[in-house]
Amino acid sequence: MSGNEERTFIAIKPDGVQRGLIGEIIKRFEQKGFKLVAMKLIQADEDLMRQHYCDLKDRPFFPGLVRFMSSGPVVAMCYFCDIFLGSNAIDSKPGTIRGDFCIQVVRNIIHGSDSVESANTEINLWFKPEEICDYTKCQDSWLNG
Ligand code: PPS
Repeated sequence: MSGNEERTFIAIKPDGVQRGLIGEIIKRFEQKGFKLVAMKLIQADEDLMRQHYCDLKDRPFFPGLVRFMSSGPVVAMCYFCDIFLGSNAIDSKPGTIRGDFCIQVVRNIIHGSDSVESANTEINLWFKPEEICDYTKCQDSWLNG
């Protein structure tokens, strides 16, 4: 088993897009060897963001988070990837995406699903089945041995 059989949802947030970090972030997933199966630049409306963060709807920061996430385009992606991100930029180590590029919890440039279950929910929310590619990546045999 390669450990990369699970799908995860990743979004480069409006601050990551505006700061010109799309290429830098995708490069890291690509060079690690994770398989990209869906990607789109999308200006999400508040309804989509309310659904995406529905688990947080009772938190005081929910309206601000929804406003921020719909304030500009985001890059939505689906990877086969065994990494699930936490959200705390402050504790993120140097060398990680958040550790290298952000200093606070709100403008933390990237969202990643925190479990297999939330990944499946988020992928179904953001992508239609036909937007998810099914292909073989030639480098898999070199990465997974
Ligand atoms: S929790 O439930 O408190 O542990 O929330 P957490 O997992 O730390 O964060 C979930 C997402 O909410 C965002 N967040 C905030 N947004 C605005 N203001 C405040 N104070 C705030 N605290 C947390 C945080 O960036 C997380 O977003 P994602 O997209 O999941 O990284």
